[in-house]
Amino acid sequence: MQSSTSASSLWRPWTPITQQAASLRIVEARGNSVRDAEGNWYLDGISGVLNASCGHGHPRLTEAAIRQFERLVHYDPMVSSHDPAETLTSRLAELLPGELNETCLLNSGSEATEAAIRIALQYWRNIGAERDRVITFEAAYHGSTFLAQQLSGLPFTVSEWVSPFPIDRIPLPASPREMRTGESADALIALFATALEAGPPAAAVMVEPLLGLGGCVVLPAGFLTRLRHLCDRHGALLILDEVFCGFGRTGRMFGFEHDGITPDIVTLSKGISGGLLPLAAVTVTSPIKETFIQEPVIQGLRYGHTTGGHAVASAVANAVLDVMADEKLVENSAAQGAMLLADLRKLESSPLVTDVRGLGLVIAIETDSPESAAAIAEAAAAAGVMTRHERGVIRIAPPLTITTDETAEIIQKISSAVDVASARPPA
Ligand SMILES: Cc1ncc(COP(=O)(O)O)c(C=O)c1O
Repeated sequence: MQSSTSASSLWRPWTPITQQAASLRIVEARGNSVRDAEGNWYLDGISGVLNASCGHGHPRLTEAAIRQFERLVHYDPMVSSHDPAETLTSRLAELLPGELNETCLLNSGSEATEAAIRIALQYWRNIGAERDRVITFEAAYHGSTFLAQQLSGLPFTVSEWVSPFPIDRIPLPASPREMRTGESADALIALFATALEAGPPAAAVMVEPLLGLGGCVVLPAGFLTRLRHLCDRHGALLILDEVFCGFGRTGRMFGFEHDGITPDIVTLSKGISGGLLPLAAVTVTSPIKETFIQEPVIQGLRYGHTTGGHAVASAVANAVLDVMADEKLVENSAAQGAMLLADLRKLESSPLVTDVRGLGLVIAIETDSPESAAAIAEAAAAAGVMTRHERGVIRIAPPLTITTDETAEIIQKISSAVDVASARPPA
């Protein structure tokens, strides 16, 4: 029996049930564009779910998947390793700085968060210390499994249940726009310092290099360097969530490269497999992994999934790294992102737009209200550009393969969309 709220049996995550029936249906995707069931093409201004970093249907990624499908689809990761996962993890060890050499492969960003926190908490047990407090941003998003959701203070992720360990959530001391000033940087670092000094010693500080779902908030330059020093002073592990920022999204291979720091643990997903197949990774330093010999039950990681490090997904991830290098996608992300930001910043003269910010190919247009953001996004879609908006902030994050002509088209269509939304009659 079909439900009364929808003509579909598909229950999509996060979307209000009342809005599911009237929603878009994407039926095809090619290059940097997607087509809906009515035949309308859109420039993909959101890269799928920020994961189609090499565009859609890249032939080298499809070929890598087919070749691996024909050879070995997957095998029990607890019983055997396989070549694609071995290659991928050694390439990650080369790409990541310092002693970040040990990678566990998983399926989703939330699982990577889950694993990172378990590893961090278990690490302290392994070395005989009682530390389980975790410090994060209030406007963080680290995923939607029970544990990952506890690490966010965003209104839409609020949990009805208590966390299994203490969490301190740091609010932003100023508006996202003001976070670019030196005073806000000092105020922000002071909040982390107070949290680290107060209460029992912290096990870990977990942050994103840029607060993605928390409003695309660009953190002040040098913040991660100062946070690294603070963590060192207090002996807390620094976990960087690169699920949103990693693999070139911010114009560097990893977001933390803007500050040149080395975290203790890194989580990766989204762009890692170009959106073709589910894949995620948690990478830790060799000394952290070493302590797991002391783990009381299996002398290893008490965590993993049947399809973690799936052979076909891992083969695709290796091809993603090849494509990113050959097509200079990190450099393209920085160049196209700079063009988008410079031109879209002109929209700050509109009464509807309160801030335009960004880093690499993550641009946020903050508006005066959720209604304005919805009107701009609707006009942009009608003009043929797909965007996403949350709580009054429009996010633009096209594939890293976007061309200069397509970037110019996005700028022109979004600018016209702001004009269309400005001309609408008052509600
Ligand atoms: C920074 C960050 N961490 C974790 C996640 C969760 O990833 P997933 O949706 O694959 O579970 C997301 C998803 O958007 C994210 O942006």
